[in-house]
Amino acid sequence: MTQATKFDPRLAPLTQQVKSMANPQQVYYDKAGIRAEKSEGVWNLYRYEDILKVNRHPAVLGNGGQGGSFGHDAPLIPLEIDGEEHAKWRRILDPLFSPKQVALLEPQIRGLARDLIGKFASRGHAELHDEFCEPLPSLIFLRLFGAPIEDFEFFLEFKNGVIHPEGETVEEIEANMAVAGAKLVEYFINYLDERRKDTEEKNDVIGVLLRSEKDGKPIPQEDLINLIFLFMFAGLDTVTASMSCILAWLGQHPEERDRLNADRSLIPAAVEELLRYESPVPSGQRHIRAEIDLGDGLVLKPGDIVHAFWAAANVDPTHHKDPLTVNFDRERNTHMVFASGTHRCLGSHLARLELRLALDEIFDHIPDFVVEDPEKLVYDNVSVRTVQKLPVRFTPR
Ligand code: HEM
Repeated sequence: MTQATKFDPRLAPLTQQVKSMANPQQVYYDKAGIRAEKSEGVWNLYRYEDILKVNRHPAVLGNGGQGGSFGHDAPLIPLEIDGEEHAKWRRILDPLFSPKQVALLEPQIRGLARDLIGKFASRGHAELHDEFCEPLPSLIFLRLFGAPIEDFEFFLEFKNGVIHPEGETVEEIEANMAVAGAKLVEYFINYLDERRKDTEEKNDVIGVLLRSEKDGKPIPQEDLINLIFLFMFAGLDTVTASMSCILAWLGQHPEERDRLNADRSLIPAAVEELLRYESPVPSGQRHIRAEIDLGDGLVLKPGDIVHAFWAAANVDPTHHKDPLTVNFDRERNTHMVFASGTHRCLGSHLARLELRLALDEIFDHIPDFVVEDPEKLVYDNVSVRTVQKLPVRFTPR
């Protein structure tokens, strides 16, 4: 194995430097100032325009340019597939996650959020990570896939085993991920077998995929597993993480919190701005297959690996005005929270809807929530930026 194939963004020096920082934005901002650097044989890119160019270039492979990962042998679909095959998958998947399609979920999302808040609203305090941010996206996801709600605990365990695996080395991390990954594959093989026997025509994501065709044939079982495997953690953890960061920020900024509560029409802009500032997915990999001249002497060569820091692009002062200030009135908020180009996030419309509705429901029930002890918040910035526990207090209802 070469140095390049061993590259793991979770162990990269910059990832490790910001690992548990509450406010890594200044570090990313400084990095954007230096534009790019080579670290352990890998190009770290920090600027918005450079990353945009790379993400759009036809001779650039995505995250899976070097084969499968995430504790699973086969490439995950569509994240680790490139070229025409990737485009075919996106043509099948995009309509399932379009703004119009996800908007149909609004009543369900609101209902689930209300039920969760109802369990703690009269208490006057809550731990929002475990009681709200973690269960809400997971429950929505189970509904979306038509999977049994009773399997909720299983999903949480899997998610944590794959996204936050224990281990100090690439080998240890991968071995621990593989154990969690294998459990999920087994579960889904059984689940798909059950669904195939079901004669009722269902319109959840699994139902539609079971009826869909690729290259004129039904989607093979193995591909369905590789799709679901990715969806599970892409949809479960990222929204939990974003929600925890957004609520932690608002719970420490009562003036902005009250402004949003008083004018709910600001919620979409506030969600965009807090996503930009918090950058829940800090970085991704790209694999270069042709020479790419980024200008001013920065030239990428075939075979180069790029570690693209979306988090730095999101506070790049050459692209954003005053990027370290959270400003709900920001005029042009073009960020890279969901990456860009070919592998742009499939679930961004769903994620945005969940975050907006979660805030609306929180304001309806516990509008004056404040973070209990801000100094004690523990952040994890590896893979996905999360607040691990979020104790808040509020006026009981
Ligand atoms: C705020 C929440 C979310 C954030 C910040 C986020 C972020 C991202 C990012 C940065 C990528 C690009 C990864 C790369 O190329 O390295 C991505 C891809 C992806 N995301 Fe999301 N995501 C979120 C929610 C979701 C949800 C809810 C789903 C569920 C459907 C989802 C499904 C996917 C899929 C399938 C891809 C791969 C797309 C492709 O390769 O064509 N994401 N996401």
